[in-house]
Amino acid sequence: MSNKKNQVIVVSGASWGDEGKGKAVDFLSSKADIVVRFQGGNNAGHTVIVEGKKYKFHLIPSGVIQNKTIVIGNGVVIDPEVLFKEIEMLESEGFHPDLKVADTAHVIFPFHKLLDGLEEESKGKYAAGTTKRGIGPTYSDKASRYGIRVFDILNEKIFRPKFERLYELKLKMYKVLTDTHKAWEFNKEEIFNQYIEFGKRLKPYVIQTAYYLNKAIDEEKYVLFEGAQGALLGIDHGMYPYGTSSITWAGGVPGGAGVGPTRIDYVLGVIKAYTSRVGTGPVPTELDGDLAHQIREQGHEYGTTTGRPRRVGWIDLFNLKYTCMLNNYDGLTLTLLDALAGVETLKICTGYRLNGELLDSWPIHSELIEECVPEYIDMPGWAPKSAEEWTKIAEQGYGALPTEMKNYIQKIEEILGRKIVIISIGPDRKDTIIREEIW
Ligand code: GDP
Ligand code: IMO
Ligand code: MG
Repeated sequence: MSNKKNQVIVVSGASWGDEGKGKAVDFLSSKADIVVRFQGGNNAGHTVIVEGKKYKFHLIPSGVIQNKTIVIGNGVVIDPEVLFKEIEMLESEGFHPDLKVADTAHVIFPFHKLLDGLEEESKGKYAAGTTKRGIGPTYSDKASRYGIRVFDILNEKIFRPKFERLYELKLKMYKVLTDTHKAWEFNKEEIFNQYIEFGKRLKPYVIQTAYYLNKAIDEEKYVLFEGAQGALLGIDHGMYPYGTSSITWAGGVPGGAGVGPTRIDYVLGVIKAYTSRVGTGPVPTELDGDLAHQIREQGHEYGTTTGRPRRVGWIDLFNLKYTCMLNNYDGLTLTLLDALAGVETLKICTGYRLNGELLDSWPIHSELIEECVPEYIDMPGWAPKSAEEWTKIAEQGYGALPTEMKNYIQKIEEILGRKIVIISIGPDRKDTIIREEIW
């Protein structure tokens, strides 16, 4: 190992997504050579703002605007149409993405998106409120081994029989899930030909990304893994079934990129100064009324992918303790502190009671969580400031933060037992305070 402090870093959402991973990844990308997505698909919406200019990424790793090599690993599910739109958007902005796409990543088809919606309808109260991007149905096909991978669409002969099988199966499933009044709007040959064309366009980017990444690490390149969603949305350790279909904690890296766990030097958890969630499932610290409205507006809490208003609540250190344990975070980024400004008294959830008993582990199951009553401590809030004032404070550094904010930060560190190494007090790249260099 060289004299580098850390060479392979994972940025991972610690709660229900939208913690500000895009911003953290952009910031850390300045030193990275390669930025990698390893799970999820275009259900993700990662925002980066540089000098007021906003970029939203769904599939392309956020490191692209720092002109880094970007990799879409095998654990990602790819909607080729979305990928090409993002590439076109970037090219129109003058970027020339150096992109590598895993030959083993699974491909999303139009019928996956339709079935996503129909499956949701059939689930009643167990519907997760998905993004309807076809994520769940594509991962289902991957797991049941009906799936079609990037490699397959590069070769008509290989693609044809797999596509026929998948198409017929999905048509049957469609008939099971819907009354026949609704038309199946897909033409088999049209989709086949469209995906052959996608394959031709994709070909220059397609490689065996696991080989590429391991070689790059051997050559001492800096590699940054960009998590999507958040630990509480994960298929194994999240609040099933109210989550997504991929492994969203840092443990998704080895499977989703083919890079062994011992290659990872540092895992950075991204947490928000409060809780937000888009989609269904209980949120014990959820707020409503004027306070929820205030925080939602100050934090611009509207989905990056679907535009849905996000549910907001007090910070929940009980569920964050759980995800700190899972990920064993080496450090944390705390975002959106500015969005809490003007709230006179802030509440921090430190635990839950179930039937009067204080719990010692986060109960995971929605049926239990629904019954839980959060325990809070109160902390004094800080005064509102203009965006320019927050930027100025960020320039001056940690010492310039309002005392109440520093106390809030210290309390979170104390309860979670983790150091907050990056503090974010505004959406722009420059509204960032680094307390500890992690590269
Ligand atoms: P991601 O999915 O984790 O990348 O997060 P999103 O981009 O979906 O949502 C985070 C939102 O908060 C975006 O609109 C960001 O521009 C914004 N954001 C990130 N950090 C801060 C911050 O410290 N303050 C404010 N006001 N906005 C922030
Ligand atoms: P980023 O990467 C927040 C939620 C959906 C839904 C559930 C399942 O921007 O943090 P899916 O379409 O994945 O089958 O939906 O997961 N969800 C997210 N919520 N941020 C995300 O991504 C999300 N990706 C999926 O709202 O509740
Ligand atoms: Mg998001």
